[in-house]
This record gives sequence, structure tokens and C-alpha cells, in this order.
Amino acid sequence: MPMPDRFVFVCINERDPSHPRPSCNANGGADVFNALREEQGRRLATGVKVVACGCLEACMVGPVVAVYPDDVHYGGVTEADVPAIMDHLEGGEPVDVLRIGPPEWELRPPDMGY
Ligand code: FES
Repeated sequence: MPMPDRFVFVCINERDPSHPRPSCNANGGADVFNALREEQGRRLATGVKVVACGCLEACMVGPVVAVYPDDVHYGGVTEADVPAIMDHLEGGEPVDVLRIGPPEWELRPPDMGY
């Protein structure tokens, strides 16, 4: 199998519900992962590798998705966003409305103390 053109990492991290930071999986991360895999299969998008991963540290805006080598990050992704993201993964433009950046990585629950 040739090296993929793009890797898409989907956070499916799951913490104890008592943890102050939310978890992407509790917000639908696994559903997004599965929907991306299914859409990839429907499109026969062999240049894309969909990978489930752990915490990407932008937990406050999860589910978080990271696309490399594009260095594009998406937050608050739902299954409904998958076709647009797959368009990007197949060489289209990034989905601007879903993009997150450094400010989203700085977000913390107010009671965490850091
Ligand atoms: S739990 Fe998904 S980014 Fe932290």
C-alpha cells in the first residue's frame, strides 16, 4: 500500500466523567471516526488514512480532528461535517467554519486552576 497523501487523526479519548476536562468520545468522537471511515470507503479514498487517537489537548472544543501534513485542525466536529472534511482530505480546501487554532488550545475549565 502506498504512503497516504493525508492522515486524519480523530480524538476518541475518554476520561472519567468526573474529570473537569471534557472528553472527545463523550461528545461523539467515535461516531465521527466511524463516519469518516465509512465515507472513505464509499469514496474509495485510498490516499487518506483515518486514525483514531488519544487526546490532542484542545478538549474544550472536541471532538477534535487533526489533518496532516496540512497542519489543519478541526473542532466541534459532528457526523454531519464528515462529507465536507472528506472533500478537504481529497484535495479540496479546508473547512473554515470548523477550524481551530492556538486560542482553542488555551481554553480550560474555570475550576482547573491552570
Ligand atoms: S479529549 Fe480530545 S482533545 Fe482532549
